[in-house]
Amino acid sequence: MRVFVTGATGFIGSEIVRQLLAGGHEVIGLVRSEEKAAKLKAAGAIPHFGSLEDLDSLKTGAAQSDGVIHTAFNHDFIHDFSKYPKSCEADCRVIETIGEVLKGSNRPFVTTSGTAVLPSTGTLGTEVTEIPQSSISRHLGENATLKLASQGVRSSVVRLAPSVHGPGDYAFIPMIISIAKAKGESVYVEQGSNRWPSVHRQDAANLFILALEKGTPGSIFHGVAEEGIPTKDIATLIGKRLNVPVVSKSSEEAKKQFGFLSYFLSSDNPTSSALTRQLLGWKPSHPTLLDDLASDAYF
Ligand SMILES: NC(=O)c1ccc[n+]([C@@H]2O[C@H](COP(=O)([O-])OP(=O)(O)OC[C@H]3O[C@@H](n4cnc5c(N)ncnc54)[C@H](OP(=O)(O)O)[C@@H]3O)[C@@H](O)[C@H]2O)c1
Repeated sequence: MRVFVTGATGFIGSEIVRQLLAGGHEVIGLVRSEEKAAKLKAAGAIPHFGSLEDLDSLKTGAAQSDGVIHTAFNHDFIHDFSKYPKSCEADCRVIETIGEVLKGSNRPFVTTSGTAVLPSTGTLGTEVTEIPQSSISRHLGENATLKLASQGVRSSVVRLAPSVHGPGDYAFIPMIISIAKAKGESVYVEQGSNRWPSVHRQDAANLFILALEKGTPGSIFHGVAEEGIPTKDIATLIGKRLNVPVVSKSSEEAKKQFGFLSYFLSSDNPTSSALTRQLLGWKPSHPTLLDDLASDAYF
């Protein structure tokens, strides 16, 4: 298959590209700089210049493909969380734009969402659990993707665990480690019994490809290898590796220390991927988050 990949140069997208090529697919990857284009070319893919803001570039990329995997996302909100709703709205526009090109073709279109925005009620979230329709979540992109299923697109959504881990990760776990280093303490919130799901980058990438190859229209898949790791266990291992004390903070104190990250640190978000494994035969096989934290991947 000739696959158009957005986010082809990112942490997860670059692994998707590697696995697609290894599996005999051809890849056209969205790039926005000469430097990234050269990297992509060296990996064996065809660079396609454009951006999430240049909707025509997305249309021409999709038009040349037999299927699309969309992982690019504007992560500027990491520095200013007020930008998150705008990123979600832009993501929805991108999905609608690519969807227009694919309508009536029955071609596969896999988009990205997250399990962290499922209700944080402590009950096991599943593939059929709906994301609350709040203004700051990725439900916009999910809805746009699912709508395309009735318009002749084999569309599906991969919801990723909040920690997609492995060498090269620069998301939440490295951020928590650097705060622990800077403050000289590794923190969990309240009892630390709230749980975080996780998935290794290589298993996550494999799931996108299975969804592309085998996903039925309108499916939601969960990129979750471990249903929920108590956050105290994560903090304890980080404290051990950094040789700093492991301490509990109240929710209010955590907000001051971690800013928007405290939302994720406080969520109790156990999540199942049983349906995903059953439907796609997905079998995560790479190290767990705690294995990775015990190795040199993060330190
Ligand atoms: N990593 C995680 O732990 C995690 C967890 C849950 C969900 N997710 C989701 O999974 C997806 C992939 O995440 P990731 O960790 O691979 O992200 P990443 O490493 O930050 O990569 C983002 C990719 O999107 C591209 N991109 C960003 N803004 C763009 C724009 N305006 N126009 C064109 N391309 C743009 C980047 O291009 P450049 O290389 O040019 O910057 C890069 O290829 C995202 O939707 C993310 O929200 C990730």
